[in-house]
Amino acid sequence: MATSYQTLPAELYRSHEVYEREIDTVFRRSWACAGRAEYVAEPGAYHATDVAGQNIVIVRDHDGTLRAFHNVCRHRGALLCDAGTGTLKRAIKCPYHAWAYGLDGKLIGTPNVRPDEIDRSQYGLHGLPIAEWEGTLFVDIGGNAGPFDDYIASHDDDPLYLTRFNLGDLRIARTTTRDVQANWKIVVENYRECLHCPTVHPELVDMIPAYRSGSVQEADPRGDYGVGIKPGAAALTLSGATTVPPLPGLSEEEGLSVYGSYLFPNCMIDINGTYANLTTLLPRSEHSTIVVTDYLLPPDVIADPALATGLDALVEFMEIVIDQDTVVAERTQQGIGSRAFDRGVYPEKDAALHAFNERYRQLVAGAE
Ligand code: FES
Ligand SMILES: [Fe+2]
Repeated sequence: MATSYQTLPAELYRSHEVYEREIDTVFRRSWACAGRAEYVAEPGAYHATDVAGQNIVIVRDHDGTLRAFHNVCRHRGALLCDAGTGTLKRAIKCPYHAWAYGLDGKLIGTPNVRPDEIDRSQYGLHGLPIAEWEGTLFVDIGGNAGPFDDYIASHDDDPLYLTRFNLGDLRIARTTTRDVQANWKIVVENYRECLHCPTVHPELVDMIPAYRSGSVQEADPRGDYGVGIKPGAAALTLSGATTVPPLPGLSEEEGLSVYGSYLFPNCMIDINGTYANLTTLLPRSEHSTIVVTDYLLPPDVIADPALATGLDALVEFMEIVIDQDTVVAERTQQGIGSRAFDRGVYPEKDAALHAFNERYRQLVAGAE
C-alpha cells in the first residue's frame, strides 16, 4: 500500500487566530533562533529582534555575561530598544519617561519618581533563557522549553553533526532579508523537501545533480548527510568556479558537498563548501515571514579584498535559489486561501515535512 500522509489543515496556514495561538503554543514553548552571537560580542553590545511578535533584547553585560530580556518597559510598556544592534553605555534607557535598567535587567533609574514611590526591586526587566551554540543565539521566550542541550539533541536532522564544521569561528559576510508573504510553516516545509527542485531550481539541480531525484535522502548513499556538487565544479556559483577557499578543516569531499539541518521552529543551517548559511525565520503574521539569510565565512576570507568578487558570485547563486523558493512559498500561500483546498497530501519523499508537522502537532496539543 502506498505510504502517504495528509498535510496540516489549510486553516492552520491562513487563520489569524491560529497564528496568534501559535505564539503561545509553539514559539513560547520551544527554543528559537535569534541571530548570530557576533552581534553581541563586546561588553555593552545589544541585539534587539522580534521572534513571532515577541520583542526581545539580548545584551552582553560588562562582565561578559550574555543576557536576554523582553524588550518592554515595566513602567507603561513602551518598546525599549529599536530592532537592530548597537552599544549601550551602562543602561537600557526607555525612550518614553527615561526609566533606566542596568545590563543585568535591574531598574536603576526613575527620573522625577522618588525611590519610595515604587519598589524598584519589583520592576526589573523580565529575563528569558538564552543559549549560544556554534556562534548562533537561541532564546526560550516562554521560559519553559527545558534544557537547551535536550532541544538540540531532539532533531531528526541531528544538528550535532554540524559541530565538526566549527561554525562558531565564522562571521557574517553578507545578510539579505526578505518579507516573504507566506506562513512560516510553508517556508519550513519548502525547505524540507526537494521534490520541487527540478521544477523550481534549474541552477541548483545543475550544480547538485542528485537533487534531480527530488529526494535528499535517496541521493545520500554516503551516510554523512552530505550531497556532492557536480564533478568539475568547485563551488555553488553559476559558473561552478570560485576563488574562495573551502571552509577550514573540511576534507576535500566535504568541501565539495552541501549539508543542511533544520532546527525547530525557525532555523536552518547549511554548509555549502566555501561558506555556511544561517537562515532565521521571524514570523510576522499568518501570511508574512521575515527570512534573514546570513552568509558566514572565516574572518580572514571576509577581510581579503582579493576575494570580494568570489564572495559576490557565491551570494549571487544562493540569492537566485532563495528568490525561487520565495516565489513558490508565496504562490502556496495564495493557493491555500482557496476554500476548495482543505488539506494536501505528502508522498513518501515528503516524510520530513510530516515529521515537522508531527512535532508541531505535539507541541500544540501539549499546550491546549
Ligand atoms: S514607559 Fe518606559 S519609562 Fe515610561
Ligand atoms: Fe527550494
